[in-house]
Amino acid sequence: MELLDAARSRRMVRTYDPARGVPHDTLTRILDLATRAPSAGFAQGRDFVVLADPGDRERFWAATTDPGAAPDRWLTGMRTAPVLVLCLSDPSRYLDRYAEPDKGRRPRDESLWPVPYWDVDTGMAAMTMLLAAVDAGLGSCFFGVPPERHAAVRTAFGVPEDRRIVGVVSLGHPAPDRRSPSLRRGRRPLAEVAHDGRFGVPWTGGTVTGGADPREPGGAAPGRAPRSADRPPC
Ligand SMILES: Cc1cc2nc3c(=O)[nH]c(=O)nc-3n(C[C@H](O)[C@H](O)[C@H](O)COP(=O)(O)O)c2cc1C
Repeated sequence: MELLDAARSRRMVRTYDPARGVPHDTLTRILDLATRAPSAGFAQGRDFVVLADPGDRERFWAATTDPGAAPDRWLTGMRTAPVLVLCLSDPSRYLDRYAEPDKGRRPRDESLWPVPYWDVDTGMAAMTMLLAAVDAGLGSCFFGVPPERHAAVRTAFGVPEDRRIVGVVSLGHPAPDRRSPSLRRGRRPLAEVAHDGRFGVPWTGGTVTGGADPREPGGAAPGRAPRSADRPPC
């Protein structure tokens, strides 16, 4: 699949076919691609904890949800994912790397970082997984762990205290699901997001060509079936 098609057709999938798992070599390929994502100073301060075993996934959901509460639609759908990947960032690798001579011997102090590159890089790796999943014919979703559940996730999976839980990537074969209500906001137009030379000057490019997002006017991307009927184009 062309990168353009993968980027345009990717969407967050929140319900999976429980009968179809992710082959181990496919999972390995997705994880390997994620290690190719860029990282500041090539510090590569990210770790992935792969939960492909049903017992591990059950432990994840037990650690992140209230056992007394009935599962809502989101949770019911997400629990069908055959793979969850915890994406962790590792600030100390950046503090060490940027204390090296070629990075200006920056003091090992997180407060000196206007942008936490460890979280940026972990997000880039997660994005690479999402695109690799499309390429493999899979669906995926990036989602966060509620702050009050981080401690339980650390305990359940032995995550060291110096790692940050940036989020989770679910992977699996997509099943029909409901449009996220967030999508009602609509996509911000390019002319509003991109500024031409100076902030506030709208970008006025020509028409963008290439594979279409099936949710948007223009229909399905080349070679892809339209999404389920309950996900009409917005
Ligand atoms: C940093 C980040 C956190 C997100 N957290 C959640 C989440 O907790 N639950 C969820 O269902 N989706 C989550 N999403 C997915 C967004 O809702 C989704 O990307 C957005 O609505 C646009 O939809 P699309 O990715 O399908 O185009 C998150 C996305 C990002 C980038």
